[in-house]
Amino acid sequence: MIKKTKHDKDITLERIHKAVDVHPRMPAMLKDLMAHANDPELDFKQLADSVRFDPGITMNILKAVNSAAFSGSQRIDSLQQAFVRLGSKRLFRIIMAQGLASHLAMKLDGYDLEPHTLLKHSIGVALTAETLALSLGRHPKEMLFTAGLVHDMGKIVLDPFVQENRREFDAQLRDSDAAFDQIEINILGVSHPQAGAWLMEKWAFPEELIAIVNHHHHPNLATEYRETALMVHLADTLVYSLGVGDGIDGFRYIVTEDGAVRLGLRSQDIEQVASITLEKMNEWDSIIQPECDKT
Ligand SMILES: [Fe+2]
Ligand SMILES: [Fe+2]
Repeated sequence: MIKKTKHDKDITLERIHKAVDVHPRMPAMLKDLMAHANDPELDFKQLADSVRFDPGITMNILKAVNSAAFSGSQRIDSLQQAFVRLGSKRLFRIIMAQGLASHLAMKLDGYDLEPHTLLKHSIGVALTAETLALSLGRHPKEMLFTAGLVHDMGKIVLDPFVQENRREFDAQLRDSDAAFDQIEINILGVSHPQAGAWLMEKWAFPEELIAIVNHHHHPNLATEYRETALMVHLADTLVYSLGVGDGIDGFRYIVTEDGAVRLGLRSQDIEQVASITLEKMNEWDSIIQPECDKT
């Protein structure tokens, strides 16, 4: 195996920075929506304004809310009706997931992720993080759900580089015990949480969300927002253990052993969160479905 020199790694890292720079900008609708993410009085006008320029998205949202799980028996024909039926918070989440779906549904060859696998994993982590917060009696912020959705977006940036260096990845996975994010650093000079945080910075997402993305595999290293980073870390671990999102990394990450205890969760709480997550994920299949139809 030919080992990469420091010079090679510097060149790769420079190319990765460039890839972040030229990565598509955040969809305009999400930008509007993010501005109101923590607004307790999120009103219909704010939600409707965010999607007004994208009829395709509106169609997908209506398709999703009309699935049996969301709408019940009556058909929903407009965003206004969806707002009345589902409430602003649920509709916010559906719009957010739908806005990111086309990014997250892609096939990632470097990471061995089939189409829509990362989308399903990300929705699972978003729902689990929120359920964890609720089970702790916390009022989950919209930001936590969004952080769950975007936590692994660094994989989208790094995928071509993992693919390019795939033989070296396979060799280090075989010959060392290093965690996968450490292997990313060894070979590319950056891990997917860091690359994801760069992208979120470029998208001007809130500081807390950037910190969560950056530390989702090492919440103990977060100097701020450690608790929410820990929630996403635990949610990620739980969703992987349910078999959602396995790729080349095979969940070779360091799990914060005492994380659940530190949050005050008992093992029966975790089991309950897992079963609620599975139920909610079935409900959210309708969000994933329109994207699957395209692939
Ligand atoms: Fe990750
Ligand atoms: Fe993940």
